[in-house]
Parts: sequence; structure tokens; C-alpha cells
Amino acid sequence: MTLDEIKLIAKDNMAVCKMCRICNGETCRGWTPGPGGKGSGSSFVRNVAKLKDVTIDMKLIRDDYEVDSSYDFFGLTCAAPIFAAPIANVAINYGSKVDELTYLNGLTQGCKEANLPVFLGDGANREAFEMPLRIHQAMNDRTIMTVKPWAMDMTMAKLSEVKACNPVAVAMDIDAAGLILLKKQGVPVAYKSIEDLKKIKEFMNVPFIVKGVMCVEDAQYALEAGVDAIVVSNHGGRVLDDSTATIEVLEEIATFVNKRCKVFIDGGFRSGSDVFKALALGADGVLIGRPFSHYSIGGQAEGVKLYAEKLINELKECMRMTSCRTLDDIKRSNVRVHF
Ligand SMILES: Cc1cc2nc3c(=O)[nH]c(=O)nc-3n(C[C@H](O)[C@H](O)[C@H](O)COP(=O)(O)O)c2cc1C
Repeated sequence: MTLDEIKLIAKDNMAVCKMCRICNGETCRGWTPGPGGKGSGSSFVRNVAKLKDVTIDMKLIRDDYEVDSSYDFFGLTCAAPIFAAPIANVAINYGSKVDELTYLNGLTQGCKEANLPVFLGDGANREAFEMPLRIHQAMNDRTIMTVKPWAMDMTMAKLSEVKACNPVAVAMDIDAAGLILLKKQGVPVAYKSIEDLKKIKEFMNVPFIVKGVMCVEDAQYALEAGVDAIVVSNHGGRVLDDSTATIEVLEEIATFVNKRCKVFIDGGFRSGSDVFKALALGADGVLIGRPFSHYSIGGQAEGVKLYAEKLINELKECMRMTSCRTLDDIKRSNVRVHF
């Protein structure tokens, strides 16, 4: 099957998400719960739009060589610094006819075949945590559980279960404190202090990734807590209306962090050239959310693998066209920022 054919099946398989030609947040403005951004939907739309305000300069005269996009993700050598972002609750959010387990199996299997890591989500009910946890147990070297910022006693109880799976890393989406769906379900998510984050890091004793950092101050606090990576993320525009786009704050945060921890980013990334732009502005890797889930709902492992390979090939193509042989060769001077 082709990606276009899989997109058509995905469209048929989803009652809510319209599977637009470009997944840019316009049609689904304000559809949360749903696939869209919060409120006016501007944060999701801006994430996608601002990536187009970064352009890439070609650089070609050189010896001919093969490019290498491989990346060491906490001990796992993967095909590229591209990861599937955690997306939970596809029935409620997309009106998916494909059930959550089939979607998760397709996502993780397809990414495994393309050799990219997968972040798994978490949710209010027990099943929404247990289902990804079971997959994590079987694929602990290439999946990362992203536990929600529950009240601390519930957080630690869930983390104990993750710890029992011998994870290579663990993540927390601290910005989920602003999620409408969780509020509607009446579940206690809470803001996390430096002390809370320290406690989690000490307890887990594996690389700890904090997702939802959008300013230098939070990056500083995350560093003080001893985290190993941050994800510059506004949860795909789902937690704050009129948020600054993630690509707009990336360079400032990455410059401040100055390699003291890994800096990942997500929000609106759709192609390998988008990924290249983030790497040039200081990111170590990029998470991609909605499109991976669409391709799993449309074509399970086959769809996900095809999309992953497309992303990897596009990134390599950008590297070839800019004379970057390895990821280390990708520099700020390869791009221009027009915002
Ligand atoms: C339907 C849906 C469900 C999500 N579920 C989670 C989740 O369980 N945990 C989490 O950390 N982020 C979750 N996110 C946010 C994504 O991980 C990611 O930050 C965002 O989707 C990236 O933007 P993109 O989809 O434009 O690539 C969800 C996003 C969507 C659209």
C-alpha cells in the first residue's frame, strides 16, 4: 500500500479527525477532547505555521558521500533522532474505529521495524495506563512510558510499576496539568516542583525526560532537578490557547541549556525537513505526534513504518543537500529564521 492509500483508510477509520491533507490544526481548531488545539486552536496552528518561517540554505560543492542520520537514544542506536510522541485515547480524540490496543501495537511495531523509539502515553483510567505499560514491558528498550503529573502519591505508585519493567528512560508530560480531558474526568493532575522532579529522578534512577518546557526558567529548574532531557512542547497546542510556537522558543532554550541535558522538541513537525530545522536550531531530537497515530489507525505497522521511513529519507535528503554528513555537521548556519 502507499501512504496516500493508508491516509484514505485512516480517514474512513476516524469519525472525528478529518485527516486533512496537511495536519495543521485549522479544521479542528478548539476540538479538545478531539484532535485539535485548545480554545481558538491557535497554538496548534502556530506550531505548524512557524516551522515554515525557518528555511534551509543549500550547500552542494563537495566530495560525494553517504550521509549517516543514526542517533544514540539513551543506549539505543536508532535510525534518526525522530521519535513517535505519546498519543493516548484515540477513540475519544479521533473517534477511531481501530481500538487502542491495535493502534498501539501498530505504532510500536512499525517504529520498531523502522528503528525509531516510541513514547507511550498515560490516561485517567486504569486501562489507559496498563495497556501501554504491557507493551512497554515487552519492548522496554525502545519504548518510553510518559507518566502524567498525577498527585505525588499516585505518580509514585505508577512509577513503581514502570520501574518494574526495567526501563531505559522514563518521561513525564508536566504540561498535562492543563489538560481539559483530565479535568472533565475529575482526575487529580498537579503542577510539579523542583523537589517533586528530584524525587522522581532519584526514585527511577534512569534517564528522566521532562516534557512540556517552554521557557528558559523551566529549563533551569529542570536542570536543577537533575533531569536528563527536556522536551520543548506545548502538548501539541492542547493545554494553553495562544501559546508561542515551540520552534520559536527552541533556540533560546537550547542555547541556555548548552548541552547540560538533551533538548528534544515537538509540535507541528510533519517532515524530515522540519526535523532538520530543529536540529539546526539546537535540538537533539524531534517527537512527532498526530501523523504517527493517523498512520497506525490507517495501516497499523505497515503505515507507521512507511511514514517513519519517509521522515528518515527526507531528513537524509536535507543533509545531502546541505553538505551535512552526520548529525553533528548540522549547524545554525544551515538555516535562516524569519520570525
Ligand atoms: C490526541 C492526542 C493525545 C495525546 N496524548 C498525550 C499523552 O497521553 N501524553 C503526552 O505526553 N502527550 C500527549 N499528547 C501530546 C503529544 O505527545 C505531542 O506533544 C503533540 O501531539 C505534538 O504535536 P503534533 O501532534 O503536532 O506532532 C497528545 C496529543 C494528541 C493530539
